[in-house]
Amino acid sequence: MIKIRSSEITPEHVYLNRRQFMKGLGAAAVSAAVLTACGPASAPKPSGPTPTLDTTPPASGTQSDELGDALTPYEVITNYNNYYEFSYDKEGIGQLAANLPISPWAVAVGGLVKNPKTYGLEDLLKKFDQQERIYRLRCVEGWSMVIPWMGFTLAQLLKEVEPTSDAQYVAFQTLSDPDNMPGQRSPQFDWPYSEGLRLDEALHDLTLLATGLYGKELPKQDGAPIRLVVPWKYGFKSIKAIVKIDLVAEQPKSLWNTSAPHEYGFYSNVNPDVAHPRWSQSTERRIGEAGRRKTLPFNGYAEEVAALYDGMDLSKYY
Ligand code: MTE
Repeated sequence: MIKIRSSEITPEHVYLNRRQFMKGLGAAAVSAAVLTACGPASAPKPSGPTPTLDTTPPASGTQSDELGDALTPYEVITNYNNYYEFSYDKEGIGQLAANLPISPWAVAVGGLVKNPKTYGLEDLLKKFDQQERIYRLRCVEGWSMVIPWMGFTLAQLLKEVEPTSDAQYVAFQTLSDPDNMPGQRSPQFDWPYSEGLRLDEALHDLTLLATGLYGKELPKQDGAPIRLVVPWKYGFKSIKAIVKIDLVAEQPKSLWNTSAPHEYGFYSNVNPDVAHPRWSQSTERRIGEAGRRKTLPFNGYAEEVAALYDGMDLSKYY
């Protein structure tokens, strides 16, 4: 089992309101708890974070990222998740999300674009070649993983719809389905989960729409059928189960920024020099490793992305 103190992993206002949230879940929380405690025998059991447990090769057979860091095992990536629509706990989300309907699935791309269009997932998979991208994911709570995603760049999709000259930002929205996502019945957050990027960040070649991992279909707990991955930003920017992408003129709202603006800025670039108000961001725990390692500026992608922020005071625009 992977254990981190709950006070370390949970934003204070959420931690304090946890009991209220559980109350809000009502009957769904009861069934969720039952599923977690005694899930079907065939369900994958959360396994330890030891890299040697991994028997699933990524599509390319590559076993490390460009820094030589080992891939996080499939079992860990799929059993240690943040997905507040289902639970505040990290383990067992796969079982909780098992009945989420994801087929058919459509993503509406619109706003300030010349060619607004609603794409079925199949259209997207046909239109854009799926490539493997091995990225580090650094969660704002201080843990990290190395994940071999499959997907295509957001830039490819945005070029298709042709943003107008007024478009400055991209706003993303998760599916709204309180029947199947019990967390969305809680008044704790401004649902559905939303996120945003500046247009140049969205068009950057590192910014991925992921549809798979380890060469397989994206598991529901990791954001199936399609999620964003922005590897130089804290993990919460990488919004799951996307149904709507809008080009907009003003900086869009996002769930975490709306909920606790002093703790979660719009940019949220990984920055070891700017502490979260309640903890340092200078080190991280790579899941599967003993001890902590130093966090790298922009999560190790500074060479590719630092220029996007030239002239900005990153302690102010955190
Ligand atoms: N997207 C939605 N819709 N809901 C969430 O709770 N959690 C975020 C992000 N995307 C979240 C989300 C956070 S905090 C992190 S760290 C990553 O998803 C975790 O992705 P993973 O579970 O695939 O590791």
